Amino acid sequence: MESLTSHTDYGSTSLSESDVDPDPMIEFAAWLARAEEAGVYEPNAMVVGTVDADGTPSARTVLLKGLDATGFEFVTNYSSRKGRALSAHPVVSLLFPWYALNRQVIVLGTAERTSSEVSDMYFNRRPRGARVAALASAQSQPVEGRDVLEARILELEAEYPEGVDIPRPEHWGGVRVTPASIEFWQGRTSRLHDRLLFTAADGAWGMQRLQP
Ligand SMILES: Cc1cc2nc3c(=O)[nH]c(=O)nc-3n(C[C@H](O)[C@H](O)[C@H](O)COP(=O)(O)O)c2cc1C
Repeated sequence: MESLTSHTDYGSTSLSESDVDPDPMIEFAAWLARAEEAGVYEPNAMVVGTVDADGTPSARTVLLKGLDATGFEFVTNYSSRKGRALSAHPVVSLLFPWYALNRQVIVLGTAERTSSEVSDMYFNRRPRGARVAALASAQSQPVEGRDVLEARILELEAEYPEGVDIPRPEHWGGVRVTPASIEFWQGRTSRLHDRLLFTAADGAWGMQRLQP
């Protein structure tokens, strides 16, 4: 397990206050585009952190599906562990781990369900197989075996043959995250990293540098 003791130097790319857009959503879009250009695998993958009803934290990877001037969107099952956590505590962290660029972005914010129109839009964009799977899976619940799920898929495929509309299940939809803070992290030589933290206050963004 060499990785536990090796020490990667994170290079000399810098992040200064004058480099970043005063609007962190614009800066984020530029960082995502940079990760795409650099060929980062699944650049829109993020680790979503939530807090269960009893205060237990949990995290999992989810794909970012929507981004605009004021928020981030992903899709999921509202009855899953994360869905239940968000019903209890509508707060979330989103961590984008762009290790290949020695970068990460951490967003903290509030979460709400998207409108049914927006959820329909995301659902209808999915390949047919993924729509059937969303119908078949009670995400995060135990199942006796994979064969049970595969049998359910076959039943649903018979119920909704090619050409027949697959309805979006009530338990599936979008989650919109409105950021309260966004931190941009750039790895630097000798662990003297750059960290710029944007925080929203009274409808405006403020920025401060954090120690590495
Ligand atoms: C690369 C990758 C992308 C994923 N994308 C999603 C996604 O967009 N939505 C989703 O609900 N789960 C996604 N998952 C699965 C989640 O990580 C997780 O297993 C699932 O949502 C159940 O999480 P929960 O039990 O904590 O609610 C993805 C997993 C990986 C590894």
